[in-house]
Amino acid sequence: MLSKKNKCYRYIYISYSPTETISLGESLGNLLKEGDLVALNGELGTGKTCLIKGIAKGLKSPDTVLSPSFSIINEYRGVKPIYHFDLYRLNKPEELEGLGYEEYFYGEGITLIEWANKIKCFLPEELLLVNITMDCANYFTRKIIFEPIGDRYLKIIEELKTVENIGD
Ligand SMILES: Nc1ncnc2c1ncn2[C@@H]1O[C@H](COP(=O)(O)OP(=O)(O)OP(=O)(O)O)[C@@H](O)[C@H]1O
Ligand SMILES: [Mg+2]
Repeated sequence: MLSKKNKCYRYIYISYSPTETISLGESLGNLLKEGDLVALNGELGTGKTCLIKGIAKGLKSPDTVLSPSFSIINEYRGVKPIYHFDLYRLNKPEELEGLGYEEYFYGEGITLIEWANKIKCFLPEELLLVNITMDCANYFTRKIIFEPIGDRYLKIIEELKTVENIGD
């Protein structure tokens, strides 16, 4: 559960194309280390998988990132193992328990979760929240909002700000 002691920080990146979103993901992936967890939210087709493609690239994965359609988890190789959860089809949070999620969330890999709001009660106290919204006036524009919870994730975003055009 998220603790109240953590102050809320918000950073915004505006993407104008899938290529920009992938490139942002790549920069983020370069900064992720074992045990890190990124929780992504946003409506259908906003670009969660697109950002994850970039993150996997930044983690030097030779594998193709696909939305896990029948499985809930896809695992990719990289400098560290990458666990890609897509919870779109999860009916209730308890379904996650049968998957041994703790071994992923608290293991030696990097965990990336689409539709993370579906399992809020199982998320660790510290994590990087990413919310993506679409601009109805322009199909290619996306607002990518980072909310780092905890010092480790705040540091990641501060570093990301040095290489990407991220505003408060
Ligand atoms: N700026 C942008 N950033 C990311 N994707 C974009 C952008 N502009 C257009 N797109 C398009 O939006 C779609 C995003 O698809 P993607 O599968 O990444 O979304 P998603 O959030 O993972 O969807 P789902 O909820 O179905 O898993 C792609 O077709 C992509 O080409
Ligand atoms: Mg997706």
